[in-house]
Amino acid sequence: MDFVLDFTNLLLRWLHVVAAIAWIGESIYFVMLDNSLRPPQSEEGRRNGVFGEMWAVHGGGFYHNQKYLTNPPVLSPDLHWSMWKAYTTWLSGFALFAALYLMKPGLYLVDPASTWEWARQMSGPQSAGLAVLYLVAGWVVYDQLCRRISPDAKNDGVLSVAVAIMMVLVAWSSTQIFQGRAAFLLTGAVMATAMSANVFFWIIPGQRRMVTAIKEGRQPNPLDGLLGKQRSVHNTYFTLPVVLLMLSNHYPAVFSGPWNWVVMSLLMFAGALIRQYFVLRHRAIHKPAYPAAGVVFILLAAALASPWVPSGRNTTSTTSPEVSSTMSAVTMAQVQHVVHNRCLQCHAASPSMAGFPGPPSGITFDTTAQIAQQAATIKQTVASRYMPLGNITGMTDAEREVIRQWEP
Ligand code: HEC
Repeated sequence: MDFVLDFTNLLLRWLHVVAAIAWIGESIYFVMLDNSLRPPQSEEGRRNGVFGEMWAVHGGGFYHNQKYLTNPPVLSPDLHWSMWKAYTTWLSGFALFAALYLMKPGLYLVDPASTWEWARQMSGPQSAGLAVLYLVAGWVVYDQLCRRISPDAKNDGVLSVAVAIMMVLVAWSSTQIFQGRAAFLLTGAVMATAMSANVFFWIIPGQRRMVTAIKEGRQPNPLDGLLGKQRSVHNTYFTLPVVLLMLSNHYPAVFSGPWNWVVMSLLMFAGALIRQYFVLRHRAIHKPAYPAAGVVFILLAAALASPWVPSGRNTTSTTSPEVSSTMSAVTMAQVQHVVHNRCLQCHAASPSMAGFPGPPSGITFDTTAQIAQQAATIKQTVASRYMPLGNITGMTDAEREVIRQWEP
């Protein structure tokens, strides 16, 4: 049974990544196309009301794209629509999130080290419900910001600032409530949900209304085009941050430090800034200041995530006097004792913990040689409280102190 789940998970992940590549690839392509459009060169193009055109060479042939805003002279019956790549990405992503985080919320969502009492006390189902609420509420708030701040796409600058502030709030609050790894994924999922919902509720319905109008010989409402574009531009700036947050779950140093929400915010802004460089570049505008600022943000994030920053809430060592005085030199026997009691349930060749058919990430601590070999990651994951997952095995602060003072 566990094998079936595991294998299904692999297939889902495959689908998710492929659909995301297709969607983001297409989205990046169309942003490039839009920003590369130049006034039509031919008399005929101008007469037909071509808004802009792009010539390209690719795959051994030449392409000539022409964009009409709302009134092409003829509308081909076999229009190519782009939506299923977006929907497939969201559906498979949500399934993956559900399979791990929503099915085992006690292990993956609830943060026993949260500074907020109620967050520590949440039951598994409560935290799973709250995570889903984040996705729904994230969309509702974002959508309301768009509707209220820039209903006719004339106030998009202020809107971007509001959306950026909203995302920092999501990053901050989710890291306070949930485990770091879940918070990063959830913040990425809030953005990804907004992206897919933009396609589903705005971009596609607007395009349908435009097509219907043209077919009925009416003039399409230009606002449908403008608002579709507004949402599609947001999606452009979301892409890089979302991909980064989705990948971040393999890097405990990034998501489990005391400043994880600042690290996350800096990385999100870095992604958006770097994207901005490429958007402008397609318009033949070179502004290296954008990626340079992005790099500064990344370096700041790296500095904050590094093990050398003074620790905050997650890594505070609550040393009791008797612990520190008796532990001038921690022995391997002491370390092994702690690891056996708190880690071996999962990290053994044949784990005793239910739901673990094999050691997670292939990491085992059966022998002292294995423990010694993995000293650095053991110290890191214990100090950041990422391990034991959800502190399900009840590791005490005194035991964390043993690992902290251990000098392998
Ligand atoms: C409830 C089961 C469980 C317990 C108990 C547990 N771990 Fe883990 N551990 C996991 C899982 C699951 C992963 C894989 C996490 C992931 O997918 O990133 C993991 C991953 C790791 C990793 C690799 C982190 C990385 O880079 O991705 C290390 C190191 C680790 N655990 C150390 C420990 C130590 C040390 C303890 C005891 C203090 C411990 N674990 C207790 C389940 C557990």
